[in-house]
Amino acid sequence: MATRKSNTPPKIETNLGSILATVAGPSTTPPPKASKATAPVLPDLVNKVSASAELAAAVVWNENKPAEHGEASYDPPPGQTAEPGTPLATASTTSESMASGKVGAGKPPAGHNPTVGSLDRVRVDSGGQVLTTNQGVAIADNQNSLKAGLRGPTAMEDFILREKITHFDHERIPERVVHARGSAAHGYFECYKPLTGLTKAAPFKEAGKRTPVFVRFSTVAGERGSADTVRDVRGFAVKFYTDEGNWDLVGNNIPVFFIQDAMKFPDLVHAVKPEPHHAMPQASSAHDTFWDFVSLMPESTHMLMWQMSDRAIPRSYRMMQGFGVHTFRLINEAGESVFCKFHWNPVAGTHSLDWDEAVKIAGADADFHRRDLWEAIEAGAFPEWELGLQIFTEDQADNFDFDVLDATKLIPEELVPITPVGKMVLNRNPDNFFAETEQVAFCTAHIVPGIDFSNDPLLQGRIHSYLDTQISRLGGANFHEIPINAPVNQVHNN
Ligand code: HEM
Repeated sequence: MATRKSNTPPKIETNLGSILATVAGPSTTPPPKASKATAPVLPDLVNKVSASAELAAAVVWNENKPAEHGEASYDPPPGQTAEPGTPLATASTTSESMASGKVGAGKPPAGHNPTVGSLDRVRVDSGGQVLTTNQGVAIADNQNSLKAGLRGPTAMEDFILREKITHFDHERIPERVVHARGSAAHGYFECYKPLTGLTKAAPFKEAGKRTPVFVRFSTVAGERGSADTVRDVRGFAVKFYTDEGNWDLVGNNIPVFFIQDAMKFPDLVHAVKPEPHHAMPQASSAHDTFWDFVSLMPESTHMLMWQMSDRAIPRSYRMMQGFGVHTFRLINEAGESVFCKFHWNPVAGTHSLDWDEAVKIAGADADFHRRDLWEAIEAGAFPEWELGLQIFTEDQADNFDFDVLDATKLIPEELVPITPVGKMVLNRNPDNFFAETEQVAFCTAHIVPGIDFSNDPLLQGRIHSYLDTQISRLGGANFHEIPINAPVNQVHNN
């Protein structure tokens, strides 16, 4: 690194106005012209300020403003743009080119954001490495606290002890308010043929196109440590990391739901969760508050029939169907829209336990489904599903004698057959259960161009609920930056 020969500060040109100030305030002089000064830092600063001023002057007002209102806003013209004369104009600092191991070479690749992309960037192989603190400082021992003398007391200044214990004290996050118990795996979705006539959604653009997915299966009512084989609805949540952003298809293994309006969801869940006075029973719907609720909600009868059938005690996560449940919309490049229902069909077939088996397994191996999924993938028997779509138009919907926006109804396959459009394969177990399975945040609001909501009032409530609950479950609003939740394509918005 170059060193300065004397302690004399570089000569600063006069008349540079407020450009050297980092506090806000009125500018006393107009921005300077590009500098020919030779002092070590100043030319860059002066050039940056003048280039920024030029850039701002290139778009003084928004000529398209009138097109943002009324009818004209349906087809707005492309926005105005101006190229900076020098990269300095948009650099975060004039010293951006100073290189170090921490800040890098000073030439960030244009458009690249390393916080997104594959999980490889956050995986660590500690084999053969020296033990360190969280600050990267090598230490010989993290098993013995620092004592005053042989028998103590322990010194408050032992920051290694305090770092380790503080990390431990805060390492748990609250369990999900529903679907707390679950297991997940990575894989891919492969499209059979382009669906561009129906949708512009990225996963359906080309035959053979593979989109990475992370899929979490779950029970609904039980707590995080409850048994896998209880009688319950199973969650079937798929996060597609498409090249146009994340799309979450957050479904269940039953094609309908208990209620029609999101307003009743807290009541449904309070009814099915353990009773408030003695907190029993665990992971079970066979109790008074639940029967009280469903007896007062005739619309829940259809779902109840499914829930009390073998469907609610699946043999394996690999042998479950999955359903988007709601009616969604697909939209193509021309802006044309059709209604759509999503169906996952397991290649291994749909199989259930019988009740006696389910009860016995719950006692013998509470992790039965978790173990089954993990071991199948470790053994190379990758579970597969076929994705099928039920596609219908608004005119068709108007002529059905049921409401397609009612999640307690299914659309009979006799009326609208299912078209297979692709397959999903789960071929990799997570590296870290907490970082991936526990911290993943599915959200029905995560849609991509080509997929849209319908007016189903249950879906509309869900669009609010997932983000809202994750703000407390994942400790704030920034959980999209947790690696498992980040998209694989680039994020540019700050
Ligand atoms: C208004 C109705 C509903 C509301 C308000 C609601 C709300 C929630 C909430 C708060 C969570 C916990 C999310 C988290 O902490 O990350 C959750 C999880 C989940 N919900 Fe819903 N839900 C509703 C209906 C449904 C329906 C109809 C389905 C199926 C189609 C469904 C499927 C799931 C699944 C699969 C999960 C677990 C996601 C995971 O694996 O992390 N929910 N729901």
